[in-house]
Amino acid sequence: MGNWKMNPQAQSQAKTLIRDIKRGLPKRNVADVVLAPPFVYLPVAKEVRSGSKLFNIGAQDVSSEKLGPFTGEISAGMLKELSVSHVIIGHSERRAAGETAEEVNKKVHVTIKESLTAVVCVGERKRDHRGEYLVFVENQVRKACAGLAKTKLDNLVIAYEPIWAISKGDGKGQTATPEDTHHMKIFIQKTLTDIFGRSAAHKVKIIYGGSVNPKNAEALMKEGMVDGFLVGGASLRAGDFLKIIQLSV
Ligand code: PGA
Repeated sequence: MGNWKMNPQAQSQAKTLIRDIKRGLPKRNVADVVLAPPFVYLPVAKEVRSGSKLFNIGAQDVSSEKLGPFTGEISAGMLKELSVSHVIIGHSERRAAGETAEEVNKKVHVTIKESLTAVVCVGERKRDHRGEYLVFVENQVRKACAGLAKTKLDNLVIAYEPIWAISKGDGKGQTATPEDTHHMKIFIQKTLTDIFGRSAAHKVKIIYGGSVNPKNAEALMKEGMVDGFLVGGASLRAGDFLKIIQLSV
C-alpha cells in the first residue's frame, strides 16, 4: 500500500504517477496493491483505474462520524462512493495531530461497517530495554480493536510502523531490522490471538511501514515475514514502488 501523504503538488502529477504505476503493474493479480493519494485526488485514481482490478484505492483517514455538522470531515460512505476499499486509520502523523485511541476505534468501526478494510497503524516512538514499547503497541492494538466482532477480521489490517523508522518523506530513514519486524509481527499476532482466538486472529494481515524501499523490501518480507508494506516516500516514485511490489511477491 502506498501512502502518498500530502503529495504530489498538482492533480496532473498525481494522474501521471497513478498511470505510471498502473502501466508497470503485473497483469495478473499477484499482490493486493493499494494507492492512497490525498482525498482530492481520489476521483482521478478512480478515473485512471477505470474498472481494471490492477490496484485498489485507499484513503489516508476517515471521519469517525457518519454524516452531519462536522466541518472538514469525510465519511466512510462518501469514500465508498469514490471506489475506496481501504482506509488508513491512526497513522502516527494523525495521532501526533491529536487523534485519540477512542477516535481510532470509532473510525475502525465506521470503516468496517461500510465493508471497507481498515488499515490500522500502530508503533512505538522509541525502543527501550524494559520492553515498555511492547506494552505501548499492545495497548494500541487492543484499543483499536475494542468491540470488533471476530467475523469482521477479514476487513482488518494492522500496519506496524515504528515512529523512529518513518522517513522525512524520501523513504530513506532508519529501517527496523527484519528481525525486529519479525518479532513485532509475532507479538501483534499474539495480541490479536489473546483477543479473538487463534483462527480468527490469523485472518488479520500484518504489514510493516517505515522507510521501506527497493533495497530493504526483500529482506523485510522474507526474514521479517510480514504480509506486506505500507510505503510512504518510495511510493511517490513509480519505479521504486513497482520494484517493492515485485520483491514482495
Ligand atoms: P516512509 O513512510 O515509507 O516514508 O517512512 C511510511 C508511512 O509513514 O506510512
